[in-house]
Amino acid sequence: MELEELRARIRAVDEEMAALFVRRMEVSAQIAAYKRAHGLPVEDRAQEARVLAGRGALISDDALRPYYLDFLQGTMELSKRRQRALNAADGTLRVSLGAVSYDVVLRCGCLAQAGALLFVRRRVLIVTDAGVPARYAEALAAQCASPLVVTVPEGERCKTPAVLQALLEAMLRAGFTRGDCVCAVGGGAVGDLAGLAAALYMRGVDFYNVPTTLLAQADSCVGGKTGIDLAGVKNAAGVIRQPKKVLIDPDLLETLAWQQLACGLAEALKAGMIGDASLLTLLESLPGSEMSAKVFEQVIAAALRVKIRIVEQDVTERGARRALNFGHTIGHAIEAVTGLPHGECVALGMLPMVPPALRARLEAVYACLRLPTRVKADPAAVYAALAHDKKMADGQIQAVFVETPGRYAIRAVAPETLRAGIETVVEA
Ligand SMILES: NC(=O)c1ccc[n+]([C@@H]2O[C@H](COP(=O)([O-])OP(=O)(O)OC[C@H]3O[C@@H](n4cnc5c(N)ncnc54)[C@H](O)[C@@H]3O)[C@@H](O)[C@H]2O)c1
Repeated sequence: MELEELRARIRAVDEEMAALFVRRMEVSAQIAAYKRAHGLPVEDRAQEARVLAGRGALISDDALRPYYLDFLQGTMELSKRRQRALNAADGTLRVSLGAVSYDVVLRCGCLAQAGALLFVRRRVLIVTDAGVPARYAEALAAQCASPLVVTVPEGERCKTPAVLQALLEAMLRAGFTRGDCVCAVGGGAVGDLAGLAAALYMRGVDFYNVPTTLLAQADSCVGGKTGIDLAGVKNAAGVIRQPKKVLIDPDLLETLAWQQLACGLAEALKAGMIGDASLLTLLESLPGSEMSAKVFEQVIAAALRVKIRIVEQDVTERGARRALNFGHTIGHAIEAVTGLPHGECVALGMLPMVPPALRARLEAVYACLRLPTRVKADPAAVYAALAHDKKMADGQIQAVFVETPGRYAIRAVAPETLRAGIETVVEA
């Protein structure tokens, strides 16, 4: 038989399979609606295991069966992705982690509905910082039965043992019990601090997060990492403990300075680079001046979907969660030497980890967002900082590379191999 004839036959099979695929996705959408209505998670590993075990019997050829099971597993992944996307359309994302699963409500204006969305008919410690407009915490407090608002020092300066202790003692003095809760209203710093206070008070009370920076909304509010700094070492003490619920109101970003927004966009773009190519395309299609709360909502949803997928696979950062460090290996080293904002350093750190054509696309996006593409510093000092990275094992760094947007590869490399890359973004 001629090759063209065989290709025509396979095309006919593909056509049948495409029709079946559409039918499967339609049923999958109905399952998504059922799960949403009944508060069930998209992820159901036990059911997936049952499906794989059961469907294997449909293929009698022992040699073919493993291929079919791979195919089925891939199809189930696609179903879950679609179910998550559908469930997100109503503004709710689900983080499925068994008994500690939670919802992330993402909707412009949702802060005004906090009283209905969160269980706040109890004592609520609302932690905010001095740089966050006070009206956000006040809006939440007005919806709580018994609020206690504590304003901590601004930004990173709040992540200290002394401030943590002050929060715990404030709860004790106010008679908080294990049935009460903590709610963060602020950026990633407030979230890290308040999350840790909630984890520690009486061995753990409920924690809600209302993030108010783009970085916190698109990244840090999900995953459960909490922490404070010790003796100048960032996040030296902390635990991983998931929030009870997260409320993301992109309208709160209207008071944020552009540099903060650009840094959040850099972290969101990082998520896109490792897990969702459409984020890069979206940012490419928008000049920085066209950023509205609705666009931020789209960016946040896409970035969080990637992060949620990874956190669900690896909550303790032993495997897949390392992908979230894309851009951070060189980025952290630049941050340590230059003191530039974290997001700008991550943006720079991504550039040497992609092929030239992709790098050019990233640089064009950075130009629109007013993110740097080069920095003036001593490349040798940046290299020295990288070689001292605490995440190094056996003289090797687990570096994250992206060849095509949306796909990553983690490879153990010697720090020397990154030296040339550093020199392309750090100029003496
Ligand atoms: N837990 C995690 O997974 C995770 C991930 C990434 C980063 N982090 C942590 O997050 C922190 C950085 O977070 P960040 O970038 O949100 O910075 P940040 O929390 O320090 O906030 C930045 C500044 O913005 C101000 N601000 C916050 N919301 C505002 C608003 N709506 N309008 C005007 N000003 C506002 C703050 O007062 C502060 O001055 C770091 O401590 C980092 O370690 C945690």
